[in-house]
Amino acid sequence: MKDPAGEIETLREELRRHEYLYYVVDQPEITDAEYDALMRRLQELERQHPELATPDSPSRRVGGKPREGFVKVRHSAPMLSLDNALNEAELRDFDRRVRDLLEGARFRYVVELKMDGLSMATHFRKGSFIEAVTRGDGTVGEDVTENARTIRSLPLRVATERDAFEVRGETVMNRRAFERLNAERDERGLSRFANPRNAAAGSLRVLEPQITASRRLDYYTYFLLVDGRPAAESHWASLEELVRMGFKVSPHRKLCSDVDEVLAFCAEWEAKRGELPFEIDGVVLKVDSIEQQRRLGSTAKAPRWAIAYKYAARQAVTTVEGIEVQVGRTGALTPVAHLKPVEVSGVTVSRATLHNEDEIERLGLHIGDEVVIERSGDVIPRVVRVHSQGSYRKPFRMPLHCPVCGGKIVREEGEAASRCINTNCSARLKESILHFASRGVMNIDGVGDALVDQLVDRGLVAGVADLYSVTVDTLMALERMGEKSAGNIVRNIENSKNNPLPRVLTALGIRFVGERTAVFLAEAFGSMDAIAAASVEELQEAEEVGPKVAESVFQFFREPRNQELVERLRAAGLPFTYQLGRPKAGPLKGLTFVLTGSLPNLSRDDAKKLIETAGGKVVGSVSKKTSYLVAGDDPGSKLDKAQQLGVPVLGEEQLLDLIKVE
Ligand code: IVH
Repeated sequence: MKDPAGEIETLREELRRHEYLYYVVDQPEITDAEYDALMRRLQELERQHPELATPDSPSRRVGGKPREGFVKVRHSAPMLSLDNALNEAELRDFDRRVRDLLEGARFRYVVELKMDGLSMATHFRKGSFIEAVTRGDGTVGEDVTENARTIRSLPLRVATERDAFEVRGETVMNRRAFERLNAERDERGLSRFANPRNAAAGSLRVLEPQITASRRLDYYTYFLLVDGRPAAESHWASLEELVRMGFKVSPHRKLCSDVDEVLAFCAEWEAKRGELPFEIDGVVLKVDSIEQQRRLGSTAKAPRWAIAYKYAARQAVTTVEGIEVQVGRTGALTPVAHLKPVEVSGVTVSRATLHNEDEIERLGLHIGDEVVIERSGDVIPRVVRVHSQGSYRKPFRMPLHCPVCGGKIVREEGEAASRCINTNCSARLKESILHFASRGVMNIDGVGDALVDQLVDRGLVAGVADLYSVTVDTLMALERMGEKSAGNIVRNIENSKNNPLPRVLTALGIRFVGERTAVFLAEAFGSMDAIAAASVEELQEAEEVGPKVAESVFQFFREPRNQELVERLRAAGLPFTYQLGRPKAGPLKGLTFVLTGSLPNLSRDDAKKLIETAGGKVVGSVSKKTSYLVAGDDPGSKLDKAQQLGVPVLGEEQLLDLIKVE
């Protein structure tokens, strides 16, 4: 393209659309690599034409220069806090007060989840993001504009008629990002964040925007203001306008006509809170009509038109009866508390993780103490603090020898973890096999704890590569193993050879190399051999690979045992090469499909799988590049679009003909 300004604008539009699809509605249409390629092209053009750079360009998300300190900013209107209702009676009291003050007028509540993060105001002018401010003391907050810019679900540019407006919402860290961050901090000997809220705060209020960028925060919005006042007639209408503009608004919200409906919503989400990707600590209810909100007014601290229904903390008190030490795949020892069984929100808990020695010391925990434990999400419960000291208490000592193999335990300087350094330790071996076979890695169904215990204990498998020589006969000699299951397992192991290179890389269990990094490495180098041969500097050319990861990968491939493992996996026939975006073989190779409406026999997932197995690609929206639209009953606007663009339209039968499925 000759017109750089035009190309830059088109690229920004494309990137914004893909950011929205990925980070706001969770329906990506392109791969990370394709996104990165677009981003790189944009950055290159902006470098060549610095006069065309703008602050709302998606390229600005990577995090700018560190700053000296935070500038204080006064809020357009106070960011109030909320009163809490701790049980049904208190919620009904609140409802009664609202009804009294509104003197019998009809009204509705909007209920939303109360996300456990920190609130932040963002300001927009002429559709572009210009400033972000933390809540601070409610009147004055801190300018965190550069940090907020790195949050991908915060749009930097929106389509709107409004000249200037403000959005308020919650900055949160989802559970996965939180777990990953803490695991990484463990590795680096840093203290853990106690909960996602603290982690979100610690990631937003840092002077280096690059740190915020690396922490993957999310921004869920719940207020739309103009000049410090609600922008619409009702709260619900504000939320809908936010959705239309492309802000992330939790879909779990509802308009309720009375307090019973509110209570039902609270109960529903209390039961389902573990299914959410982020932590919630309750439900917020707000009177919907802004007129009525005005009539109700606010106290100095909190509005009278809203309240937070807080869930009971998912905590309980119990006794630590012992501390067992478990050995992980990298040899790291994790102390686990054995508890007197106790019920925490419907689940009986008898173990809690203590992470490492430092954590036990920080807690001041002895065996025999009573502790407060907490369940959050579906992760293993943790010990929050010592509740009271036991009358017979015994200090915990990290063993000097591995509890499994008797090998030496070493704690390196600057590391939180003590490790068993015997690479033949059977606990390490079992964990590495389980990791190898696990979902999201080599995905070998049937290879679980019980099987791996027997295989290792009987000396049938002495390394992950041995899995590929396991036969039906070997398996049938094990306890509780019939011919059929044995056959299935062997077949699953065989099928795992179809996994692409990034899976194999993840399966090797190289420190710091998870799914995402493995994809970046495979994309940058194209083969196992190229990765193994790369220097520490070269490895850093891959996306998101810094000195620490590069060093770990480099060292892994220098270790003779690992070299042997790699060779054995190669001999077993695992894929060692990877081609970027290589179209799969099959009758639909190179073709792109869009699905719309309901098909007579196939579910949408089935249709998608069929197309993909036949080598085709399924994307979400119709463009000139779409090969076919597959339309069923009640097709949406996609059919019109396809007809406009002249994209051929198929029915289910024609699709099957194309694939030649009888
Ligand atoms: S409304 C004046 N809505 O909870 C209204 N707050 O305990 C103030 N929070 O400071 C906030 N989810 O940080 C509101 N859907 C939601 C929320 C929410 C989480 C937080 C927010 C607020 C605190 C009050």
